[in-house]
Amino acid sequence: MNNVHKQTLKNFKSEPFTYRTIILNKEKFVQVLDEINDLNSLDSLKNQTIELKEIITHLKNDREGILNIDANGDTVSLRRDILISEFEQILESQTIERARYYLYRLKKGVIKIKTGKINDINLLRWKEYDEIITDSLWVLEKRDTSGAHLGWYWGNFIPQIPHQMILRYTKKGDWVLDTFVGSGTTLIECRRLGRNGIGIELNPEVAQKAKELIMKEQNKDGVITEVVNHDSRTVDLKAILGEHGISQVQLLVMHPPYHDIIKFSKSEKDLSNAKTTEEFLKMFGEVVDNATPFLERGRYFALVIGDKYSNGEWIPLSFYCMNEVLKKGYLLKGIIVKNFEETRAKRNQKELWRYRALVGGFYVFKHEYIFLFKKVKK
Ligand SMILES: C[S@@+](CC[C@H](N)C(=O)[O-])C[C@H]1O[C@@H](n2cnc3c(N)ncnc32)[C@H](O)[C@@H]1O
Repeated sequence: MNNVHKQTLKNFKSEPFTYRTIILNKEKFVQVLDEINDLNSLDSLKNQTIELKEIITHLKNDREGILNIDANGDTVSLRRDILISEFEQILESQTIERARYYLYRLKKGVIKIKTGKINDINLLRWKEYDEIITDSLWVLEKRDTSGAHLGWYWGNFIPQIPHQMILRYTKKGDWVLDTFVGSGTTLIECRRLGRNGIGIELNPEVAQKAKELIMKEQNKDGVITEVVNHDSRTVDLKAILGEHGISQVQLLVMHPPYHDIIKFSKSEKDLSNAKTTEEFLKMFGEVVDNATPFLERGRYFALVIGDKYSNGEWIPLSFYCMNEVLKKGYLLKGIIVKNFEETRAKRNQKELWRYRALVGGFYVFKHEYIFLFKKVKK
């Protein structure tokens, strides 16, 4: 590699990344990748890659017509920063075989789509999905308050939870069931992401408000989102799904009350009014029994729940609930620990809670759990 080449390479590395998507003429792009692949020295291969990278970075010197999307043939839309990093990987290769392997991988990601059974993630372009969290510790600073997500409901979860679950565990057009839908966060995400959703909510006023809110979210994919005002332990899911011509859902979400931490209503049917932890777990188990038969085998069930203190004792409510599900033969696929993001109200109370914690020898709750189960049995 000559010095000029090295210099150019260095300059390109200092380019700021841009997250814009770039649309290319697929045929031309693949043709250029093939031509580069056919070169028989590593230096010439790298020089051609630099030229290609320059076209993508500066959108000029496009003699090959890679950017000419009006010409005949298909187009391909790629994330520009990722594409540039693919070129960089080629440029950093020590052998021609390695460089060709990266070229081959890049070409494959352009011409093919490879998805699994339970989501639409194109595994050949997995680097583009950095939005999807795969770590078990989630520290989310801010609630997503865009669109219909207002966050008015005390005891709701942040939209990022159903967002992540839906992207990871469903395909477009799939059906999601949330048995404690509250203010409708899950169904708003369903509309955003083109999934159908059914939510059950016991409290009629909350159910009504959720319905109104959900309708405010755009529905560009024309999906169905329905809120049913009922007790999740006894609601006739077979009939509800049947009305839509389906018998199963592909994702089950449950965000029950954390027992009596927040009283959601005065109804005896409300899990937050269970008199004891045992009664709460029994009621939760009844919801699980009523809903899980309608989850498709091989699909996922996300349970979102936190713990509580009672008479100075930490009650691991979340693990008790996890056990209820495990007893029924589900496979535990993950336990995610998620922080409680700080709201202004909580910030104001912070000092008081810290004082109380120091006095009482306890800890201030800063996290909740997302348990992920897979349905393996019929
Ligand atoms: C923790 S909140 C869920 C909040 C929801 N994820 C959201 O983002 O708005 C629990 C909800 O379960 C509801 N609920 C309690 N018992 C129920 C039952 N037996 N059947 C259906 N919903 C119930 C409560 O009214 C409350 O709205």
